[in-house]
Parts: sequence; structure tokens; C-alpha cells
Amino acid sequence: MAKHIIPHSYKISKEDRLEANKHNAFLLWFTGLSGSGKSTIANVVEQKLFEKGINTYTLDGDNIRKGINNDLSFSPEDRTENIRRIAEVSNLMVEAGLVVLAAFVSPYKKDRENIRTIVKDVNFVEVYINASVEECERRDVKGLYKKARAGEIKNMTGISAPYEAPENPDIEINTETESIEDAAKRIVDYITPKLSRQ
Ligand code: ADX
Repeated sequence: MAKHIIPHSYKISKEDRLEANKHNAFLLWFTGLSGSGKSTIANVVEQKLFEKGINTYTLDGDNIRKGINNDLSFSPEDRTENIRRIAEVSNLMVEAGLVVLAAFVSPYKKDRENIRTIVKDVNFVEVYINASVEECERRDVKGLYKKARAGEIKNMTGISAPYEAPENPDIEINTETESIEDAAKRIVDYITPKLSRQ
């Protein structure tokens, strides 16, 4: 399909953008069960980065599944396509010089490996937001676990669909034992050297 797509050579390179921004660009990917705290932590991390003058953008279910991916369900095939498109969008944003924060359940290991390929390994930081299904179900922030138990939602991750936990994440946060603030601080400390252009 891409055979006759010949890339145009643009005058402003990614390097020019990073130089102007005075920081590197990469993708900070948050994976974990629904209700584990991905978006909450991503939000606090973004605030901290913003205060440091870092150019950021956050992608999550709210701005992706309601827009560009509103044709996708929660079947395994559609989840794969969901993650692939998000990875491609993130890749463009990284090319544009942004630190992208993405918070998605992304339950399949092979889909997360594919993100690594799309954005390139060096631009990918995997953050595993770990909380047990029992805890997420107890929190049930959106009332989805209750609906899943009642059979109103099919393919609910952790209940009737699998979650393949990362084996070697760059950062692991357990939101049952660590506060949001401590977790966000730990993530910012981890990525600070990566931001530096020196
Ligand atoms: S993913 O599996 O394709 O990565 P994504 O992160 O986009 O999922 O969307 C997950 C969000 O959609 C959850 O936080 C939850 O609010 C909602 N949701 C609705 N149905 C399901 C389901 N069957 N499984 C998981 N999350 C669901």
C-alpha cells in the first residue's frame, strides 16, 4: 500500500524542534487495569513536567476512543488496532518534539512490543501501574466491574478478558501501597535525565 508514497524532505527536522524546545521527546506509556490509576498518575506527572517548561500532551481513552478510534470495540483485534493507531499518533507527536503521556489498558504484550517498534525502543518508557483486580473492582470508579459481573459488559479486562502484566517495565508503581504523589515524583525523577539535551 505504501509503495508509491515517496517521503518529502522537510526543512525543519526533529532535531531542530528538540533544540528549540531544549528537551528530548519520547513516549511515556502507562499500562494497567481499568481503575488502577493510570490517568490519575499521568495527569500529575504531566503537571510536574509542564511546570518545568516541558512540552507535553496526554492521550487517553477520553480523547482517543471518543474520537479517532470511535469505530473500535474491546475485542482482541480492535484493542490491537486501538494500540497501533495510538502508537502511530504518539510517534508523530514525538517527531513534533513532545513528551507524550499515554494511558491505556493495553493488555496484550505483543501490542506493547509493537509500540516499541513503531516509536523505536529509545523513545519508549513503559510504566506499569499495578493494582490487583480485587482492588480495582473494589474502587470501581466507573461502575464497569459491577456491570461486567452482571454480564452487561463483555470482554472486561481482569474479569472476562486477560491482562498480560509487563515482565520488565521501566517503572512499576503499585497504587495499593504507593501514593499518587510519590509515584508521580518517582516517574519524573526517572525521566529527568532522558529529557536533558546534554
Ligand atoms: S485497551 O484495552 O484497548 O487498551 P483502552 O485503554 O483504550 O483499552 O480503554 C479502556 C477503558 O475503556 C477502561 O478504562 C474503561 O473505562 C473502558 N472500558 C469499557 N469496556 C471495557 C472493557 N470491556 N475492558 C476494559 N475497559 C473497558
